[in-house]
Amino acid sequence: MAWNPQQYLAFADHRLRPVFDLLARVPAEDPNRVTDLGCGAGNATRILQQTWPGAAITGVDSSPEMLARARKEAPDIAWVESDIAAWRPAEKPDVLFTNAALHWLDGHESLFPALAAQVKPGGYFAVQMPANFRAPSHRTIEDVGIDPRWRSAIEPLIKDPPTREPEFYYDLLSPITASLEIWHIEYLQVLRGEDPVAEFVKGSWLPHFLEALAEPARSEFEAEYRARLRAAYPKRPDGATLFPFKRLFIVARV
Ligand SMILES: C[S@@+](CC[C@H](N)C(=O)[O-])C[C@H]1O[C@@H](n2cnc3c(N)ncnc32)[C@H](O)[C@@H]1O
Repeated sequence: MAWNPQQYLAFADHRLRPVFDLLARVPAEDPNRVTDLGCGAGNATRILQQTWPGAAITGVDSSPEMLARARKEAPDIAWVESDIAAWRPAEKPDVLFTNAALHWLDGHESLFPALAAQVKPGGYFAVQMPANFRAPSHRTIEDVGIDPRWRSAIEPLIKDPPTREPEFYYDLLSPITASLEIWHIEYLQVLRGEDPVAEFVKGSWLPHFLEALAEPARSEFEAEYRARLRAAYPKRPDGATLFPFKRLFIVARV
């Protein structure tokens, strides 16, 4: 999928808040190497650099658009174009950090143990993923998708929620890690502007579906999606739109 850094970063404050909540539970004091998997435009990576200024910081992502933006903002960080599933570091990091990226990959049963194995013994594997796939913001894509105008293109893209329940990750990681902490946070995101929930999802999950459609179906699909979200997330009397968003956090010491 082609990423649009500008659309993604329009909600940078909401998207970065979980980075701080995840980092708060990573007690690494003076790590030598820190890697940010699925680093995107590098906003979280730069926070990692500020947190551990003495560490060699690497950002890994498969999107050339996102990496170009990341490089421009922080040329002193090592930016690596790679698929996360194939990534194997020459030297294992003390902190392997990944914010809002691993839900894009399938096969978490094998992916999570494989990534935990890339962390230096005694180091930390820290993960945040959205856990909002049953909310109207995401379910509406499936609901609109069954319209006969585009069903054949959209239906093959519909999958089970990629982020699993906490127990799944506990059973997977507890036998291979020294300590493990898993929790959910639901943020009540207060958004402003026109169709802000649709704009938010258009920065991440929606383009994958829009890209499957040619015009005019693409614009018609998006218009229908926006109309339904306006009803699902009505404006409050003060003009704000409330968008509750649940996220899953995992911190493992390896
Ligand atoms: C929602 S963005 C998160 C970016 C960043 N971590 C942040 O917090 O701002 C997801 C990122 O994961 C990357 N990504 C998705 N699947 C990937 C894969 N298989 N390998 C590498 N990067 C991937 C995308 O290119 C995108 O930049």
